[in-house]
Amino acid sequence: MTEAHPYFSGGKHRPQTAKKLSILRKYFAVWLRIWAGPKCADWVDPEWHVIDLLAGTGQACGARGELLSGSPLVLLEEIASHAEQFKTRGITIHLHLVEQDRDRFAALETKVGEFLGANPAVQHVVLAHLVNDDANSAVDALMLSPTSQTPAFIFVDPFGAEINRTTVESLIDLPWKLDVLFNYMVESLRRTYGVAVGSSSRASSAMDTLKDFFGSDIDLSTRGVIDDASTYARAVFASQGLKTAAFRMSKPGTVGTQYILLFASRNDTVVKIVCEVYAKEMTDHFGQMSLLSAGEYLQGIEVIS
Ligand SMILES: C[S@@+](CC[C@H](N)C(=O)[O-])C[C@H]1O[C@@H](n2cnc3c(N)ncnc32)[C@H](O)[C@@H]1O
Repeated sequence: MTEAHPYFSGGKHRPQTAKKLSILRKYFAVWLRIWAGPKCADWVDPEWHVIDLLAGTGQACGARGELLSGSPLVLLEEIASHAEQFKTRGITIHLHLVEQDRDRFAALETKVGEFLGANPAVQHVVLAHLVNDDANSAVDALMLSPTSQTPAFIFVDPFGAEINRTTVESLIDLPWKLDVLFNYMVESLRRTYGVAVGSSSRASSAMDTLKDFFGSDIDLSTRGVIDDASTYARAVFASQGLKTAAFRMSKPGTVGTQYILLFASRNDTVVKIVCEVYAKEMTDHFGQMSLLSAGEYLQGIEVIS
């Protein structure tokens, strides 16, 4: 039986969420391994930044409705597996967790507090900065003073169009070594677009939301621009020299795309590794192995530059 959870609206099956979190975990394990590895030891800044801009409660529902670690806990669990090594090397990871909703934030504080309490080794290497605010206004107040040797990772996982393009751009503009995993919620954006071009009283505010999300130079006069995440990826990431690998996720039993995970980085090797992570995930259809191999999926993965 599914365990009841006070912060989740009840026992839903969320294989898409499980997949997203699995990709986050696999990628972040690679991120930690690369930056902690011998090639970086001599030059890398010992202060690293990891930002979960829309952090949630610290818990999520999986494929069978079971409770999973939400993104902040996924990040902490992966850091925990390297904690002793990071401590020896004098590395500090600033983990910035931003959540606007008060109740969700309270749940997040509890989960993070419990985790750190149970994992004292992590307390030596992680400085957790929990911020209960709108991420669009909070970014300016985050304690960031990166250099060109600072590793940084940003996870952006909205319900829809909550994150303004200027917010993402202000972080890309910093002089650090940045990777971004951005959940482009195509189904939800499509819904907002439907409202924006409709005749309800909410049309104008929905259009304003989309303009904030896409920025003023993206033409929103046709629906196609919403469905095609490459327009966003080109404008926001490619224009700043980041390549983007895209992973499309549909709801089980449907063909339509629900979300597109965009991974953006200036490091070609990491983009290639993430494509391999995506391809492996594609071979697993909610517990059933697909007929195609990871190598065959790999060839079809879109890289936007
Ligand atoms: C899809 S959930 C995040 C799930 C989380 N990343 C995970 O994997 O466990 C989106 C979260 O963003 C929060 N949120 C929505 N708008 C926000 C904003 N403008 N600033 C900060 N948080 C916001 C919501 O309350 C919600 O908890």
